Amino acid sequence: MKILVTGGAGFIGSNFIRYILKKYPDDSVVNFDKLTYAGNLENLKDIENDKRYQFIQGDVCDYDGLCRAAEGVDAIIHFAAESHVDRSIHSSHEFLQTNVFGTQNVIDVVRELLPPPSPLLGKGGGVRFVHVSTDEVYGDIESPKKSKNGDAFKPSSPYSASKAASEVMVLAAIRTHGVPAMITRCTNNYGPFQFPEKLVPLFISNAIEGQPLPLYDGGAQIRDWLYVEDHCRAVDLVLRQGKVGEAYDIAAENEPEVINRQITEIILTTLGKNKDLVEEVAGLRPGHDQRYAVDSSKIRKELGWKPQVSLEEGLKQTIKWYQDNQDWWRRVKSGEYRQYYQSHYGN
Ligand code: NAD
Ligand code: DAU
Repeated sequence: MKILVTGGAGFIGSNFIRYILKKYPDDSVVNFDKLTYAGNLENLKDIENDKRYQFIQGDVCDYDGLCRAAEGVDAIIHFAAESHVDRSIHSSHEFLQTNVFGTQNVIDVVRELLPPPSPLLGKGGGVRFVHVSTDEVYGDIESPKKSKNGDAFKPSSPYSASKAASEVMVLAAIRTHGVPAMITRCTNNYGPFQFPEKLVPLFISNAIEGQPLPLYDGGAQIRDWLYVEDHCRAVDLVLRQGKVGEAYDIAAENEPEVINRQITEIILTTLGKNKDLVEEVAGLRPGHDQRYAVDSSKIRKELGWKPQVSLEEGLKQTIKWYQDNQDWWRRVKSGEYRQYYQSHYGN
């Protein structure tokens, strides 16, 4: 199978490409990525000379470039997005641009790949399209309820609103144009190569550096934490066995549920650091969702997926990865990162 991956130089995309090339010797991957601040070809250094891998620098908002990249592919996995909630609060336009208009371009390119054979790309046939959405489209949910497919979307941030908008464009394309799309909505990922603006890599790298860990709003918020490789396995299953037109919720369903303060304490304890590094901050995430929880029984029952890495083991491996790969995140934490950090967190 020849797969076009958008956003493959980011956190989940790079882990996904590595997963596919390792698991399927006959598959090949075209990675189409703009290389924004979050895109990093170092994430794929170990496979850059693999003959089955090709990188194309491009913007999903550039229809012609995307069309050329899609020539002859059997599947498109659409990861490319602006992905950080805090950044979307500072400035929302890029989120609309990439997440909504960019996704519309991906939909249009998928339509070009459908039969009858398109004069533009030549090849018709059974292209499969996975749109990677997020559980944040559901907004927060009171305990003990869990969100699931069919529930109304109640996005809280400009990021999640843009993801909800892109998702409804995909749903409309399925209905109106028969686009063979499948949608995934996953909970919080963590693991190697995650950009150190998100809670887990930010707190691990700050703790290693002896810098404060800015814990928002009392740290009592609940997220469901899934190791990135488990998410990659789920997306791959949806790609190969998912039913066209369906959406799959993906979640670790951590039991018991975990609050941010507990994640913070595990990080500090594992690194042997003092709890004094925690700095309580408030007001940095207006509209902060209190709890995410998702019912993932559909993908478990229909596709036989379940997570293979426990939170305890996954966090241990992730902390070790950040300890062993300090060059990677120290390089990332320079340049533009410093400006963002200062404008968001202050000094
Ligand atoms: P990321 O920010 O680490 O990576 C995003 C990638 O997309 C980067 O490589 C970036 O260069 C690229 N990109 C951004 N704008 C682009 C554009 N206009 N054209 C082409 N490439 C562009 O994000 P991530 O955490 O890996 O998330 C990937 C996808 O998964 C996103 O769609 C996100 O909404 C979704 N998701 C993320 C999580 C999570 O916990 N991180 C959970 C569920 C869903
Ligand atoms: O649920 C899936 C989503 O998970 C994805 O769609 C998003 O792309 C991804 O960024 C992630 O969103 P969150 O907002 O949940 O992740 P983040 O790591 O930014 O925050 C996790 C929790 O930690 C949240 O309650 C806010 C809190 N937090 C975050 C940061 C960056 C802090 O307390 N301090 C911080 O500095």
